[in-house]
Amino acid sequence: MPRAIISPSILASDFGQLTAECNRMIKGGAEWLHMDVMDGHFVPNITMGAPVLSCVSKGVPGIFMDCHMMVAQPEKWVNDIADAGGSLYCFHIEATSDALSIIKSIHDRGMKAGVAISPDTPSTAITDEIGAAADMLLVMTVYPGRGGQKFIERCVPKVAELRKRFPEKDIEVDGGVGPKTIDVCADAGSNVIVAGTAIFGAVSAEEVIASLKATVNA
Ligand code: DX5
Ligand code: ZN
Repeated sequence: MPRAIISPSILASDFGQLTAECNRMIKGGAEWLHMDVMDGHFVPNITMGAPVLSCVSKGVPGIFMDCHMMVAQPEKWVNDIADAGGSLYCFHIEATSDALSIIKSIHDRGMKAGVAISPDTPSTAITDEIGAAADMLLVMTVYPGRGGQKFIERCVPKVAELRKRFPEKDIEVDGGVGPKTIDVCADAGSNVIVAGTAIFGAVSAEEVIASLKATVNA
């Protein structure tokens, strides 16, 4: 299985101090930062997009930005996110009928490509061809739309299914993940761990990051 990567979700940060919050995560041991882009169409909420990403990329040079695109037309934002410093562009399979061409356009812009599945989408929606072309597969463990929700355990078997089919790929879990729910995620084979509330709300972000990482690498 690939190495553990912790990707704190900046949706749970204090936006007024965004650059400082990002630096705090990097100092605390995070490899990536997870940015939740919501467009008010694919999901009801609106959060942030390329202009905010641009500030973070400049404020935290060299940071790997894991952009989770909860948007209705994922093909539309590839260039803007690439220009703003995105490192990985992860779109939802439910939002497109042509995942392969979006993956190609993401790679053409020098970013890694991720494909996400929502709780009601089976792992088989990731075909062998799509899985092979993508760099990362994201199994949502809450319904996309907001932070701080309860972890949905019935999504976890999909992680194991995908790990079996794609042993070398990064497999990310996102939603309600923290010290209390990491064990099942790690056992199922996820190696990229998104956590918002559990990290930003902790007394010591560093300790939570270290413990999540240790569990995945165990
Ligand atoms: C949900 C987002 C998640 C969320 C995670 O739509 O994709 O990334 O911010 O936050 P927590 O860890 O608080 O569930
Ligand atoms: Zn997310």
